[in-house]
Amino acid sequence: MNNLEWQQRKEKAIARGQGTMAPVYVAKALNSEVWDITGKRYIDFSSGIAVVNTGHSHPKIQQAVINQVNNFSHTCLMVSPYDEAVLLAERLNAAVPIKNAKSIFVTTGAEAVENAIKIARAHTKRSGIIAFHGGFHGRTNLTMGLTGKVAPYKAGFGPFPADIYHVPFPIDYHGITAEHSLAAIDNLFHADIEPERVAAIIIEPVQGEGGFYPVPQGFLKQLRDLCDKHGIVLICDEIQTGFARTGKMFASEYHGIEPDLITMAKGLAGGFPLAAVVGKAEIMDAPNPGGLGGTYGGSPVGCAAALAVLDVIEEEKLCDKATAIGEQVVGHLNQMQKQYPQCIGQIRHLGAMIAIELVKNGDANQPNADLAKALVQEASKRGLILLSCGIRGNVIRILTPLTIQDNVLQEGLALLSQSLEALV
Ligand SMILES: Cc1ncc(COP(=O)(O)O)c(C=O)c1O
Repeated sequence: MNNLEWQQRKEKAIARGQGTMAPVYVAKALNSEVWDITGKRYIDFSSGIAVVNTGHSHPKIQQAVINQVNNFSHTCLMVSPYDEAVLLAERLNAAVPIKNAKSIFVTTGAEAVENAIKIARAHTKRSGIIAFHGGFHGRTNLTMGLTGKVAPYKAGFGPFPADIYHVPFPIDYHGITAEHSLAAIDNLFHADIEPERVAAIIIEPVQGEGGFYPVPQGFLKQLRDLCDKHGIVLICDEIQTGFARTGKMFASEYHGIEPDLITMAKGLAGGFPLAAVVGKAEIMDAPNPGGLGGTYGGSPVGCAAALAVLDVIEEEKLCDKATAIGEQVVGHLNQMQKQYPQCIGQIRHLGAMIAIELVKNGDANQPNADLAKALVQEASKRGLILLSCGIRGNVIRILTPLTIQDNVLQEGLALLSQSLEALV
């Protein structure tokens, strides 16, 4: 059976809503390389969407999982607890830029966001939530409502939960300044909802699905002040930005603020389904016992993996590696932009969260989603796994494992250049 035959079977067996970027059926993956069922090798510039920051099949993480499975794999944290969850909570509480933090564990990113909203509502006894255009917070009903990207996440799935309001996310490249965003919030307070009814503002420090736009310096501080003034909970969604991806453990550290709550998942357990909300103890303790959690929340296997992930991030200095990867990749991309100024509109990055915005005629207002799609396909043919993003689908994101070997990174960048060259 080859990739296309499996893809045909997949299309018959799995509903099309759970789509496929490229029909490459994986047989094996190691660090930053993936082999398909035909033995073809790929360089992975996606990390399974920012999950395997520590590389595929890291021996230390695999061993931690094997040891855990040999002991036990499930009892339910709420029924018969285990020390792995307590140890992990203690380490996360110490790692976040929040004094006196507590944690809860769930299974997916969307669930972490749902629970952060529940906690903010229980704490404030308010219901309103402010989110941003282009934000992505998940595919469950509440998180779809928070998400600010219509296709493919919201189209056809309404109605969405009430009392959610969206404002523009500050993006200099598209002429939206921090002042525009703050003015939109002020306008909301006069036109739609009084600040005394707003429970939380939720923001990604670098928008992920929305197009890899980092928040401008100073903006999170302005949101922090606004939240303090009105008693609103500030939630930083670090599900994609967390765990060394941006050159710091959490991207909010770049902004010198203390979020009230941080949502995390993806890189937390290096590929095992685990998510968390970590936040100020007095806010985290608002819901009553039993109000949070879930059957698999804080699975012992996920916790064991996450403890090993934290060790690997420290031992292999992955924050520094992310910064170095970012600089190296952006150096290469700048050369590409000089060669193709008409189609590469902007290159931006925070650490190893790197984006290329593709446009027509060098114009920020002429997004080129067709080129982004074609580039992902062309790269895949040549053995490079790439992802696109952006509310207009015209951004290529580069998310290598932070453990990527230098020669493999260089090889991947050469494949990227060749793929673009073949298309323009
Ligand atoms: C910022 C952000 N929040 C939430 C989610 C949802 O996470 P999950 O897909 O694990 O539910 C994602 C996933 O891409 C994300 O990037």
